[in-house]
Amino acid sequence: MLKTHFEDESNVHKWRKLRGYNSTRLTPDKEGGKAMEDDLESSGGYTTCSVLAWLFAHQECQESEEEKEGKGARTHQMKQWYEELFENYGMKYDNENFVQGTIGECDFIEKEIGHNKAARILDIGCGTGRHSIELAKRGYKVVGIDLSESLLKRAKEKASERNLQIVFEKRDARSLPFLNEFNLIIMICEGAFPLMETDEMNFQILRNAAKALLPKGKLIFTTLNGLFPLYHSVKDFLDSKTKEGNAKCVSLSFDLMTFREHSALYVEDDFGNKKELQCNERYYVPAEITWLLKTLNFKTVDIYGAKLGAFSRNDKLSTEDFEMLIIAEKQ
Ligand SMILES: C[S@@+](CC[C@H](N)C(=O)[O-])C[C@H]1O[C@@H](n2cnc3c(N)ncnc32)[C@H](O)[C@@H]1O
Repeated sequence: MLKTHFEDESNVHKWRKLRGYNSTRLTPDKEGGKAMEDDLESSGGYTTCSVLAWLFAHQECQESEEEKEGKGARTHQMKQWYEELFENYGMKYDNENFVQGTIGECDFIEKEIGHNKAARILDIGCGTGRHSIELAKRGYKVVGIDLSESLLKRAKEKASERNLQIVFEKRDARSLPFLNEFNLIIMICEGAFPLMETDEMNFQILRNAAKALLPKGKLIFTTLNGLFPLYHSVKDFLDSKTKEGNAKCVSLSFDLMTFREHSALYVEDDFGNKKELQCNERYYVPAEITWLLKTLNFKTVDIYGAKLGAFSRNDKLSTEDFEMLIIAEKQ
């Protein structure tokens, strides 16, 4: 595998800090299992391979109803890391530091549709519904879809506590039924798009979004910036031991052939169950995004830096932006 300087632990620190994760290493505990150790200086850590082996040994084979009927986008396979991660995670999710910018993000989204309250909005990979709920509070009709039952359950609870009518449905963004229905589609904070295990699946999500949009409809999403791993330098990570977020990274590499980040995450769910997950996320360079969206009949594709809670068309994308903000308008 062709890798970047992210194999250097100092870069790993900086990377995880930007993502809101605390860097850690796995070390054996007394029972011969694995325990987390916050000190990166300690020796004798497990390798990525041993984490992988552990994961494969523990992952269950799961088949959804759709797959059993042969209708799904996937055939029989193991549960993916993003399914495991968001299982029983509805409560913990809302404490993550990267979900704290909802109001500012919705201000930007509203401005993009000219505050037109008649707009119908689809939130793909809505999670616990933070954007769906904020937009519904502002008077918009919103449909939120997600793969995770646990996050959807939390979204429904929050909407009902606030007396909001929002349609939250369990759906896979790779196989959506919507055709020319929405004025706006949002997919924020890696809501589905770059998380899929193949580039074809990620493209299928964009294709489904394009189909679901009305003519002149807008797609607004944030995704991982492929320029970041190419250009980021080795520096300033010393405060990386600060605890941020719930998940902890235990290894990281970036494959220049596939533009995929591979990392092992240690996470504890709402019930205190500990999980170790082997994650795989695709970074896209801006030109790829433009090309993919143009092939799907989007007439304009504008790409900016994405700052938490402060989306702006004035934020020129740079190599320092970990995420990019994309605004595309359909023909
Ligand atoms: C990082 S969360 C982002 C959630 C939300 N958009 C936010 O901003 O808080 C990614 C979400 O994408 C969902 N997801 C992943 N793959 C999906 C798929 N194929 N279809 C629908 N949702 C998916 C996950 O369950 C998770 O809720």
